Amino acid sequence: MQQKTTAVFESQFEEEVYEGLTAFPKHLSSKYFYDAKGDALFQDIMNMPEYYLTNSEYEVLATHTEAICDLFSRGVDKFNLIELGAGDGKKTKILLKHLSQKGENFTYFPIDISQNVLNQLEQSIQKEIPEVSVEPLQGTYFETLKTIETLNGVRKVILFLGSNIGNLLHPQAIAFLKNIEESLAEDDILFMGFDQKKHPQTILDAYNDKTGITAAFNKNILTRINRELGGDFNLDLFLHWEVYDPETGTAKSYLVAKEPQTVTIEKLDLQIDFNAWETIHTEISQKYDDNVVSWLAKEAGLRMITEFSDTKKRYKNYVFKKDNSNQV
Ligand code: AVJ
Repeated sequence: MQQKTTAVFESQFEEEVYEGLTAFPKHLSSKYFYDAKGDALFQDIMNMPEYYLTNSEYEVLATHTEAICDLFSRGVDKFNLIELGAGDGKKTKILLKHLSQKGENFTYFPIDISQNVLNQLEQSIQKEIPEVSVEPLQGTYFETLKTIETLNGVRKVILFLGSNIGNLLHPQAIAFLKNIEESLAEDDILFMGFDQKKHPQTILDAYNDKTGITAAFNKNILTRINRELGGDFNLDLFLHWEVYDPETGTAKSYLVAKEPQTVTIEKLDLQIDFNAWETIHTEISQKYDDNVVSWLAKEAGLRMITEFSDTKKRYKNYVFKKDNSNQV
């Protein structure tokens, strides 16, 4: 295998692709699924009948709207609603509508890496719920959280929906939660979605639809490498493969090489050999239960206040606060 002569990378994408494809076993990060095409494919995924997560969380928010909104606004006359990875806001709008009907005094801060997503979201809220004050913030979660931390004196309610935490291994999830915990004041609230353990077939079906949308989503990372880094992956020579381990609750996505091949990535000055049936691990989608969520929260210094579920118990949203119990 040819190695890149200089260790200088022009972007984190280049560096991670290089590291991941020269590692054994090979891996790539699911965070690179999301370019314009990947965003559109994920929208399609959320509309598939097999991908129960979106509807389940929608049901949680739609059936417990009153109780959830009450938690957000109780005891304060004003709060900031901050959403990490806002996306199209379809689910959040249930809460925004209710809060504005109740005449609550709040500002909605959607945070997203994509300015395009934020513009569309702002426009659609202006159209549907014009009385809501929206302040979009473009950037990564923690950069932007930092800027919001300075808005102190006003309660922060942080939303992290969609079981997006599921892309992280437990140690990373704890680090992520700790990061949020550090930005919380005593009275602040964290409201998060966690997809639950359930019949393994239901989970496999959600990540292995017959129409091939998830396969196209998974392979989009190869398309990006081809386009952005001058790669020559032949997408037809890779298979989308999903496994779910009911013991650990981890669903894993792979791209599997159907035959031996060599792929060239010009910008990385790299040639990669694949054996027949060699894998590239691309994503984990972790499933949870109450015990695991409690453990993660405790490790991160958070206290679980309450939880809301859909009727089928497929999905839960938990409410956390900073745990000050071990401070004097
Ligand atoms: C956006 C990370 C929650 O893991 O369920 C959907 C992404 N991957 N189908 C998930 C995804 C394949 C999704 N998250």
